Amino acid sequence: MKPPCAGSILEVLQILASMRQAGYQIGLVPTMGALHAGHGALIDRARHECDYVVVSIFVNPIQFERRDDFEAYTIDLASDLEFCGARGADLVFAPSAEEMHRPDRATYVEVTGVSEGLCGRFRPGHFRGVATVVSKLFHIVAPGRAYFGEKDAQQLAIVQRMVLDLNFPIEIVPVATVREADGLALSSRNRRLSAEERRIAPLLYQALEAARKRLEGGCDSASEAIAEAVTRLNAAPGMRVEYLELVDALTMAPVERISGPARIAAAVWLGNTRLIDNVAVSAPAARYDCGAGKADPQA
Ligand code: PAJ
Repeated sequence: MKPPCAGSILEVLQILASMRQAGYQIGLVPTMGALHAGHGALIDRARHECDYVVVSIFVNPIQFERRDDFEAYTIDLASDLEFCGARGADLVFAPSAEEMHRPDRATYVEVTGVSEGLCGRFRPGHFRGVATVVSKLFHIVAPGRAYFGEKDAQQLAIVQRMVLDLNFPIEIVPVATVREADGLALSSRNRRLSAEERRIAPLLYQALEAARKRLEGGCDSASEAIAEAVTRLNAAPGMRVEYLELVDALTMAPVERISGPARIAAAVWLGNTRLIDNVAVSAPAARYDCGAGKADPQA
């Protein structure tokens, strides 16, 4: 069964005011539609933890720095509504661009530092658009919890930073990346891959996993493991690495030695499609110096 779908902000405010009055804990899952099992995992988690689950579906024009990418981003609202209903969402908020962004808007949310590297370096303005729309959704829905995928690790880190800095009383819940059986992270953009590109695409996750294992094995400099992954990916037909880096999981700043939560994050182009992925990396259990004069692990 399809859940009710609200297109106006006023409607959402009215519905949610009565839910709040009834003491319901509200969960928000922000999406851009074209829903797949990755989004489904976020909705499932929200369903499990909250009394009333709101899914927003809005292809946010101000986070697309390329017009062709925005235009290629097509969604089918009727089938997304079916999807939300099957997952047990209570309300879908699907505003028009005019409803969400006034033509005379003058206010943006910019999260400095954490948004500047990785995707931020190659997609100027993208994260400003994300932070602005997410903060608007937070004000409109005012959820107790909001759900974000680790698939977009930098976006997650930016939202976490923003919530702390701007005192949103919202718990941000990270959800693990959902993958195809061959490791490819689910993404709306996977639909754009040709059969040949789809065959090659899982190499991205394989290369990230190989780098993770090398680093967790302990006897490595990050730059060597990263360079090997880059070489491997660039050798695949039609694939070009945009970035591949070991970063701190909270600040997204590059790190050479792992001392806390870290991720290897990458963006690659496969033909005309841009894919991103990342994996968490732990510090090696016992780090020892592999060079001359190293401590003898037997000693
Ligand atoms: P969208 O790409 O639709 O993703 C919505 C949410 O689903 C994000 O939190 C994303 O990380 C998560 N997600 C996507 N693929 C996933 C996967 N394979 N496994 C787990 N989670 C996955 O991200 C956006 O939309 C937008 O930038 C948005 C936050 C809605 C702001 O416009």
